[in-house]
Amino acid sequence: MKRTIGIILTAIAIMGCGNNKTQRAESIQDRPWQEIAPTEIELNPIQMIDKDWLEVSAGKKGNMNLMTISWGTIGELWGRPVFTVFVSTNRYTHKFMEGNDYFTVTHFPESMRDKLSYLGRVSGRDEDKVAGAGLTVEFTELGNPIYAEADLAIECKKIYGQQFDPSLMPQEQRDWYDRSGLGVHYMYIGEIVHVWKK
Ligand SMILES: Cc1cc2nc3c(=O)[nH]c(=O)nc-3n(C[C@H](O)[C@H](O)[C@H](O)COP(=O)(O)O)c2cc1C
Repeated sequence: MKRTIGIILTAIAIMGCGNNKTQRAESIQDRPWQEIAPTEIELNPIQMIDKDWLEVSAGKKGNMNLMTISWGTIGELWGRPVFTVFVSTNRYTHKFMEGNDYFTVTHFPESMRDKLSYLGRVSGRDEDKVAGAGLTVEFTELGNPIYAEADLAIECKKIYGQQFDPSLMPQEQRDWYDRSGLGVHYMYIGEIVHVWKK
């Protein structure tokens, strides 16, 4: 009888270890990044940007910021693969976009939606957003921030940055800026230099 109980307990312990291993293997933070070509990004651009949302990050270790975006475009310019983001002058992130040669764009699993919402509501001027969202920052070889919790990371080198000229916008868009009091957005076009996925 004692022997039977011993065998059952050992089996439960082994199964328990197995489950822990499975849980660890399933956690996104533990999965390795795999470099892919820009042409191998499988997500639909409108789904990825407008529906899922992304984080745009700029800066280096100890001096960086990130914010949620749902405006952006991906494509080609001047013979290079490019990702373009639109950042209002009101955003703390704007200062980092101006002060750095690179930015990254990261996509997260749906389970991170609440964190993305927080990162799009709160300013890095007021809070440590990385800590607030519980993110694990990793730095690329070029020193740019990406996150262990993300499932896609796109590293971009700024090749063009300019504020929109309101006089060239449709009137309704100008009215929207006037009503919202939002600083007119800068467009930053980044050459995609690396893409990693999990
Ligand atoms: C879903 C969503 C999408 C957003 N898209 C943009 C965007 O494309 N460009 C922008 O300037 N702000 C956008 N924002 C607003 C910024 O993320 C927000 O103001 C943020 O708090 C700025 O943070 P920061 O001050 O730390 O830079 C978005 C917010 C949300 C929630």
